[in-house]
Formats: sequence, C-alpha cells, structure tokens
Amino acid sequence: MPDFLWGAATSSYQVEGGAAEDGRGPSVWDILSRRTDVVPSGDTGDVACDHYHRWPGDIALMGRIGLGAYRFSVSWSRVLPRGRGAINEKGLDFYDRLIDGLLQAKIEPWLCLYHWDLPQALDDLGGWLNRDSVGWFTDYAALLAKRYGDRVKNFATFNEPNVFTFFGYCFNLASEGFPNHPNTLLCMHHVNLGHGAAVDVLRDLVPAARIGGIHNRQPVVPEHDTQDDRAAAIAFDEHWNLAFTDPQILGAYPPGIGAAIEPYCRPGDMARICRPLDWFGLNYYDTIVARSAPWTNWGFGFGDAPADIPRTEIGWTITPDGFRQELVRVAKAYRLPIYVTENGCGSDKDIPDALGRINDQHRIDYLTLHLAAMRQAMAEGADVRGYFAWSLLDNFEWGAGYSQRFGLVHVDYATQVRTLKASAEWYAALIRAGSIDGVAASA
Ligand code: FCB
Repeated sequence: MPDFLWGAATSSYQVEGGAAEDGRGPSVWDILSRRTDVVPSGDTGDVACDHYHRWPGDIALMGRIGLGAYRFSVSWSRVLPRGRGAINEKGLDFYDRLIDGLLQAKIEPWLCLYHWDLPQALDDLGGWLNRDSVGWFTDYAALLAKRYGDRVKNFATFNEPNVFTFFGYCFNLASEGFPNHPNTLLCMHHVNLGHGAAVDVLRDLVPAARIGGIHNRQPVVPEHDTQDDRAAAIAFDEHWNLAFTDPQILGAYPPGIGAAIEPYCRPGDMARICRPLDWFGLNYYDTIVARSAPWTNWGFGFGDAPADIPRTEIGWTITPDGFRQELVRVAKAYRLPIYVTENGCGSDKDIPDALGRINDQHRIDYLTLHLAAMRQAMAEGADVRGYFAWSLLDNFEWGAGYSQRFGLVHVDYATQVRTLKASAEWYAALIRAGSIDGVAASA
C-alpha cells in the first residue's frame, strides 16, 4: 500500500502562541486557561510553541521525519477577531505562509476549521447555544474556503465535537459553571448543523475538496456487570461516540437521544446535518469505563478501569484492541475511507538525558501496539488510508497545561529549542520504509 499517508497533527491554541499579535482576538481558551479551576498550573497558550513565528523550522522538522501530511487547525479569532464581521488580513496571511511552506516541502496541508477555540466575542453571544452559531461558522468556513481552497484540498469541520460539547456543558467547564444536559444537547445540535452547512459551502467553493469530520472514538465498557452499569455504558456510548457521527453520516440521532433532542430540531434539520462526506477522521487514545450515575440528569459517569490494565506515564489506560474495535465498527457503520487523525501517548517524564536525547521508548511501544491494532482492523476490512500521530510537538495540553507531553518532538519551553525524540526517529524510519506492509497486525 504505497499510498498510505503518514502525518502528524497539532492545533492552533496548543502550538501557535502569538496570542495578542497582529490583531488576533481572544478565544474562549485565552479565558479558560486563566481559570485555575480549568488549568490549575496557570499555564496559558500565550506563547505555547511559538509556532506562529517558528513555523519554517517546524516544517523543516516535518521534512526530517518525512511526513506526507500535516494536520493543523485555524484559529478562528486570528482571522476574524470578533468571530464575524471584520477580517484580520494579517491573521489570514499567517496561514497563507504556513500552507505555502508546506506545499513547497511537499507536505499536504490538512486544515481543520475548529479545534475548540471559539472566538470569545461569539461566546459572549451564547456561543454554540445560540442557533446563530450555525451561520457564524458557515461564514467562517466560506472565508477559509475562498482564501485557501486553491491550495488546500483536505478540510475537516470540527475536531472532537463530543469533547468540547460534553466537557463544556455536561462535565462542568461552561461559564455558567454547572452541568446542564439540555444545554449540551442544544449545543450538540447546533454543532451538527454547523458541520452540515460548512460541508456545503466547502463543497461549493472548493470543487476538488475532500471533506471529513474528526471524531474521538472510545469503546465504552460497563464498570460492573450490572444492569445499571450496562445501561449507563449504552447511554454513554450514544452520547460520546454516536451523537455527532450518526446524524452527520446516517441522518438520525441514536435512539436514546432522539426524543430528548426533538424540541430543538426544526423541520429539515436532519437533512441539513447529513451531507455527503469523503472521509472519516478517527482519533483514538483509550477506552471509557462507564458507571451508572442516577443523580445526574443524563445517567452516566466515568467509572474506574481495572487496576491491572497497563497505563501510560500520565495514567491513561493502554487499550489498543479498542482502537481495532472502533476502526472496524466505524468502517461497518459508515462505509467511508478512514484517516486516523490522532493517536499518541502522553508523558510527564520526557526529559532529555545528559547528552540531550529523549529516549521515549514507552511512546514507541504505545505507537507500535496501536499500529498493529490498526493493521489488524485493516485486515478485517477497515479502509484506513492514513495515520496522523498526535502530536508533532509537545504542546499546551488543555487542563494539564505543559505538564503532559505528547510530541514526537520535544519542546524546551524556556528556549523553544526543538529536539527529535527517539519516537520521531522511529516514526521517520517507519515512513522511510515506504509501506505499511512492514507494520505487523496484532494477533
Ligand atoms: C485530543 C485532542 C488534542 C489533544 C489530545 C491529547 O482529545 O483533540 O487536542 O489534547 O487529545
């Protein structure tokens, strides 16, 4: 399979920095990162990896690794400081430079419209709770399509809509400060409508566009083999894994959500959400253990994984078979080519040794296990066309700030010096080998 695409991913707020430069407006993450209940360390994305200035060097690093594609996201408030209305040319110029640099290096730009950093000015108007958000997002998509569509062919609408809606409204990050199931559903529906509308404008304005959505998939297993936990696992799965993909690709909400979403659906909405797509972006890290939580108004919560499951250095369970399961499940349910748009391993111990090397064998082991699981899924019929490691660079890991490193490339935040970790050399060798056939399927 010589055409298999090997890439790496980042996102705007996590790497760019340049937060107050050249007319960029604030996003919700500029505000959230200053809340100690959200980011206890006080870390912010103000400087992050300074990718805003250091992108030429970062493209050179991608070249050293041999990446065929780079997945990045656009900071909405950099190009539209208030989310709508006045355009910031200097912000648009930044992505022009980045895209041109990638193309020159023969690295395909994969542009994601939204990786969680809603312009604060739009949040002030209700954000995704306001049905007008659909129009704001559509106009933003049109701006990017017109500006970059001559050079960018691969577009994703949202990265992991489940994460920002559920952690925003169900699990307690929202500005109003309390979990709220109806708000979660409303927000979910608007994001789904935004997705469908953005697909339409991208399709109209960029005839050769290949468009997908990016979804975090995690098999959900009940904590205990009880009726309550089994029911919780089903509800959790519907909300977490299916609430965006089913309506976007199959045109219907999963059965457990259908009735609750009904009050927010207007005639024609489902057809607006379900637009033809070219690929499915699948992010995978680990599985979810669900427990019944009758005191919440959605009925499920996070349970504990068994103590004997292996874990990464930051405590995430290592469950590669869940990756195989979700790839096969997604392939069967949605029948689209799949790109793994994120997969990777976090650490709080990626520290250079005396010679400055970062020997992250734990990450190589994690990636090896997951590539084997992906290979197995392909043997079982999943049409996987590419794989993006998360992440190219260590970066701002949301609530964990800079304490968790996911990069193939180490970033010294004090000096901004980049160092390829052992995993980057390993990934480079794998890419050089030129085919996925050398990646063994798991037993
Ligand atoms: C995913 C996010 C990405 C990063 C990784 C570790 O859920 O899309 O930004 O934080 O997790």
